[in-house]
This record gives sequence, structure tokens and C-alpha cells, in this order.
Amino acid sequence: MDDSMVTFLVIWFIILFFFVLSPENKPPLHPYEQNALYHVLNSLNPTIPWRTLFPDDLCLSAPHLLVCDYNPTSHHHQQQNGQNQTLNLHIVELTFGYISDQTPIPPCSLNATLSPLLFASFPYLRKLLFSKCFNDTQKPIQLLTFSSFPPSLQELVFIDNPSVVSPLEPFLRNLTSLKKLVLTGNGFYGELPPLISGFHDVEELSLSRNNLSGEVPGSIGMLKKLEILDLSHNKFNGCVPEQVGDLISLVKLNLSRNEFGCKIPESFIQLKNLEFLDLSFNHFGNFGVPLFLGEFPKMKEVHLTGNSLSGKIPEIWGKLGGVEKIGFSKLGLVGEIPASMGVYLKNLTYLGLDNNNLEGPVPGEFGFLLKLANEINLENNNLSGRVTFICGGGVGQKKLKLAGNIGLYLENNNDSCSCENGGNSAHCKTIPGDVIFNGVSVQLFDPLMLVLVLIILFVFT
Ligand SMILES: *[C@@H]1O[C@H](CO)[C@@H](O)[C@H](O)[C@H]1NC(C)=O
Ligand SMILES: *[C@@H]1O[C@H](CO)[C@@H](O)[C@H](O)[C@H]1NC(C)=O
Ligand SMILES: *[C@@H]1O[C@H](CO)[C@@H](O)[C@H](O)[C@H]1NC(C)=O
Ligand SMILES: *[C@@H]1O[C@H](CO)[C@@H](O)[C@H](O)[C@H]1NC(C)=O
Ligand SMILES: *[C@@H]1O[C@H](CO)[C@@H](O)[C@H](O)[C@H]1NC(C)=O
Ligand SMILES: *[C@@H]1O[C@H](CO)[C@@H](O)[C@H](O)[C@H]1NC(C)=O
Ligand SMILES: *[C@@H]1O[C@H](CO)[C@@H](O)[C@H](O)[C@H]1NC(C)=O
Ligand SMILES: *[C@@H]1O[C@H](CO)[C@@H](O)[C@H](O)[C@H]1NC(C)=O
Ligand SMILES: *[C@@H]1O[C@H](CO)[C@@H](O)[C@H](O)[C@H]1NC(C)=O
Repeated sequence: MDDSMVTFLVIWFIILFFFVLSPENKPPLHPYEQNALYHVLNSLNPTIPWRTLFPDDLCLSAPHLLVCDYNPTSHHHQQQNGQNQTLNLHIVELTFGYISDQTPIPPCSLNATLSPLLFASFPYLRKLLFSKCFNDTQKPIQLLTFSSFPPSLQELVFIDNPSVVSPLEPFLRNLTSLKKLVLTGNGFYGELPPLISGFHDVEELSLSRNNLSGEVPGSIGMLKKLEILDLSHNKFNGCVPEQVGDLISLVKLNLSRNEFGCKIPESFIQLKNLEFLDLSFNHFGNFGVPLFLGEFPKMKEVHLTGNSLSGKIPEIWGKLGGVEKIGFSKLGLVGEIPASMGVYLKNLTYLGLDNNNLEGPVPGEFGFLLKLANEINLENNNLSGRVTFICGGGVGQKKLKLAGNIGLYLENNNDSCSCENGGNSAHCKTIPGDVIFNGVSVQLFDPLMLVLVLIILFVFT
């Protein structure tokens, strides 16, 4: 018995004690569901003697793994019209696995299996969650091809269960009441089935970190209530369907780390509620940074890193004062950095423009950016000229990364706020007219530049 188990048992006894002292007249859990739950618990953790430990009504005695309710469609009337002794409670929420150290939910055992009873025995189930429950990849768990979870389900969540290796199609069938489908960090594979377009109430579809592949069906555009679409870290390919632009409720769209190609759909311009857009690390083609990015008034984060978009950084920043993070690294960008970025992006905390082919000066307007930003990365471009920044607050917090720009050098007129809190202070101190970064981690010069500067110093002194 490990520590978490002991904690769990102790807390359970406290809860049990509490209920023995204050008996309630609630109607009992339906006996069929009670029995089925014992079986399910045994399949998840046979090392706990569930029936012995929890002989009473599980709605009252079991640890935090279930929520019970009357028949959810009619309980209001029946509660008001006096106590009907024959009423039964039903299980409406089930949570299995590891949630946090504070929550006394019994951990799944190493050889936990998914009981087929879960598919049929809880007809009023609204939420079902498995977190870090199925971990033994030697014994993959395939969700049964002939079964579906109860159609009453509104939330189905599988988080970090690598041994659940299954296609989506069979068990998603009939789950037309779903509002939230979160299947992240599991072994789901195969295509996104077109039946998903029948989930008219779905608000969140998060399928990140699985092994899903193929093209995303255009019918996904029918999910008008969808607010979060996260397909990141899979193997989806083909073009992103134009219909994604019909998902007008979208707040977060994450398609990063897939194999999507073609052009980023212009239809995205309709997504007026979008706050987070992440398309990084795909194969989107060289059609430039899309101009419609300038038309998202609520945008907070936009990440395009690692696509061969090429072209110049467009002048689209006027309406984007609320943007906090911009990832434009490794895009094949050319031309100069627009000064307007420094003018409008007052709330920026992260800006990645590194590993492009940008040239020309770092606009003086960027000095202001540094006051708020945690990281501005301009490394590995072809930037040139002088960079002067004024000292600001937040010592040690900020990072300006400039390495790998051969024509760039830094100007300092104040020795008392140089680089001593930052990373590469040796380089800073050898150069008179030092940089004025306050606690900035400065990777200022590559060795060649340092040699050049030293030669210049030698000549002039
Ligand atoms: C209690 O429920 C039973 C069966 O559901 C029903 O036959 C009976 O009429 C109900 N009694 C009251 C008072 O509602
Ligand atoms: C789970 O594994 C343990 C040993 O690790 C074994 O004793 C037990 O029988 C297994 N239980 C099931 C249900 O496979
Ligand atoms: C799952 O298995 C991996 C290695 O197979 C292990 O590192 C990890 O700690 C396990 N997680 C849980 C929650 O048991
Ligand atoms: C889906 O629902 C239909 C009708 O509600 C039912 O006949 C069918 O058996 C269900 N399929 C599954 C896989 O549960
Ligand atoms: C993903 O699927 C491929 C086959 O399509 C398989 O070879 C690979 O092992 C799977 N990876 C994981 C992590 O399941
Ligand atoms: C998108 O998904 C990736 C991988 O799952 C994650 O690392 C990244 O933080 C997500 N992006 C946003 C903006 O949430
Ligand atoms: C910038 O951030 C502040 C504080 O979080 C917020 O009040 C303000 O509305 C933001 N600016 C814009 C233009 O969204
Ligand atoms: C860097 O920019 C200069 C002009 O400022 C140009 O002559 C040179 O070819 C550029 N180098 C690269 C590698 O693009
Ligand atoms: C130099 O920086 C220090 C510390 O931020 C500040 O107190 C001082 O006024 C600055 N001096 C000049 C000449 O800017």
C-alpha cells in the first residue's frame, strides 16, 4: 500500500463516519447501478476490496468518484410533490484515475481494464472522466466495436491514457448529446469520423496528442456551438477545410503539429470571436502571412511558427492592441520589421521573429515593447544597425534575444544598468558603450561580431 492509498482510505473513513452520524433519508442508488459500479471499480483496481469497504449506498459512501441525482429529466416535480419512497437515485457523473493529490479518488491499478458495463449500465450518465488510468501500453485497450457509451453523456474525457488505442468511430456513435469531448494524450488513431458533424451541441472538441490522421471532414463546419477546436499534435493532413471558417463561436483554434498543407483558409476571417490561433509546425505553403489576421479584434495569441509562409511581415497591427503572444519564427520571412508592431502591440509579452531572413534595423519603437514583454526573440536573422533600449523595471524577468544577427550592435549610455542580472554579462562588460538592458538575458554577439568590435576598439584607442 503506497501513501496515496493510505490517504485515500483515511479520508474515506472520515467521510463514512460523518455519514453514519448524520443519516439522511435520501432514496437509494438504483441497485443495478450500484452492482455495476462495483464491477467497474474491480476492473479498474482489483487491489481494493470495494464491496467490503463500501457496503452501503455508494451515492452516500463512496469517495469523490461519483455524483448521483434523481432521474435528471423529472426530479424537480417529484421532489416538490412529496417523498416518493420508490424513487431511485442514478449515477450521473463518474471520475476515475488520477486527478490531483488533494482529491481522494482511488488510483487505477497498473493492469486496469475498461469494463464493458460502462457502455450500458448507467443510462443517466452525463459526465465520464478517465485521467491517467490506462497506462500499460503492452496491453492496449480497444474500445469495443459494437458499443457506445450511454447517449445521455454530455462530457466524455480521456486524459493521458496511452494504452487506450482505438479508432473514434465505434464508441462515439449515438453520443449526440455531447457538449464536451476531450480525448488528449491517448492512443486514438484513424480518421475524424464524419458522424462528428451530428454533435450539434458540442462546445469543446479537444483531440490533441493522439495518433489521428487523414483529412478533416468539411462537415465539421456544422458545429455552430463549437468554442474550442484542438486537433494539435496528431497526423492530420490535407487542406484545412474552408468550412472551419463557419465555426463562428470559436474562441480557440489549435491545429499545431500536424501535416496540414495548402493555404490557410481565407474563411477564417469570419471567426470574429477567436482569441487563440495556433497553426504552428504544419506544412502551410508560401502564401505569406495572411492579412486577415489583422481582423480579429479579440485575438490574444497567434502562432504560425514553422510553416514556409515567406513574404514580408504585413502592416496589420492597428487593431491588435490586445495581442499578448506572437509566434512568427521559422516562417521564411524577409524584409524589415515594421515599426508599427512596436507602436500598436502594447500588451505583448512574447514575440518570436527568430530564424527568418529579416533585415534592416530593429525599430526604435521596440524599446517600449521591452517594458512589458517577457521575451522578444530576434535571433538568427540579418538585422543590422544600432539597438538602444532604456532601462526598465522587472529586473531579471526580461529576455531580449539578438544572437545570430551579424550586422547588429548595441548601444549603452548608462553603465549602472547593464547586463549583470542577465545571462551573458561577460560580453556586455567588454564593450564600452554597453547595452542598457535591465536584467536582460542578452545573447548579444556571436564570436565574429565580438572580434570585429574589438578590432574597432583597438583602432580607435
Ligand atoms: C411513486 O412511484 C411509483 C412508481 O414509480 C408510482 O406508482 C406511485 O404512484 C408514486 N407515488 C407517488 C405518491 O407519487
Ligand atoms: C494485476 O496485476 C497483479 C500483479 O501486478 C496481479 O496480481 C493481478 O492479478 C492483476 N489483476 C488483474 C485483474 O489482471
Ligand atoms: C505511465 O507509464 C510510464 C512509463 O511507461 C511512467 O513513466 C508513468 O509514470 C506512468 N504514469 C502513471 C500515472 O502511472
Ligand atoms: C444507437 O441508437 C439507436 C437508436 O437510439 C439504437 O438502436 C442503437 O442500438 C444505438 N447504437 C449503439 C451502438 O448503441
Ligand atoms: C501511430 O500509428 C502508426 C500507424 O498509423 C503506428 O505505426 C504508430 O506506432 C502509432 N503511434 C502511436 C504512438 O501509437
Ligand atoms: C496548441 O497545442 C500544442 C500541442 O498540443 C500546445 O503545446 C500549445 O500550447 C497549444 N497552443 C495554444 C495557443 O494553446
Ligand atoms: C491590455 O491589457 C490590459 C490589462 O490586461 C487590458 O485592460 C487592456 O484592455 C488590454 N488592451 C487591449 C487593447 O486589449
Ligand atoms: C544581409 O543584408 C545585407 C544588406 O543589409 C545584404 O547585403 C546581405 O546579402 C544579407 N545577407 C543575407 C544572408 O541575407
Ligand atoms: C542609469 O540607470 C540607473 C538605474 O536604472 C538610473 O538610476 C540612472 O538614472 C541612469 N542614468 C542615466 C544617465 O540614464
